[in-house]
Amino acid sequence: MEEKNHAAIYKKSLMKIGTDVEKRQIFAATEGFFNQIEALINYCPATTLGAMYATETAAIFEHEVFWGISCELMQRRELKWEGSTLKAFHDLHLNGVEQHHKDGLGYFVDAHSTEIEKEKVFTGAMRAIGAMEEWWQALLTTAKGMI
Ligand SMILES: [Fe+2]
Ligand SMILES: [Fe+2]
Repeated sequence: MEEKNHAAIYKKSLMKIGTDVEKRQIFAATEGFFNQIEALINYCPATTLGAMYATETAAIFEHEVFWGISCELMQRRELKWEGSTLKAFHDLHLNGVEQHHKDGLGYFVDAHSTEIEKEKVFTGAMRAIGAMEEWWQALLTTAKGMI
């Protein structure tokens, strides 16, 4: 629910700076990443927990990167970054939201009782990290090709 609301806010704030996410080009590596995460989530609850913990942890750094990209984009479009909805959106996530998601899930990771479950949590996390590495590598390679 929270992320659904956040997605709507993000979409609206991007529209305000002239970027319509509905008109985006599908990036194959992003689709591939979503499919891999979906498969992990459908596998079992412990794997889901591991995958979520890994992706929520990465969300902190992803917001730092997107904070920088958004700031640069607005400067290039000669729009005011300070006081913008887009900046507020990223600040909200960096000022506790993502940290809270990570820490909240960490509680469940620690509370997991059996070693077998912990092993599955670890496997889920490692597979999600692998999927993220692949995704980010594809993004970087594409971005470098545009320079
Ligand atoms: Fe969010
Ligand atoms: Fe999150």
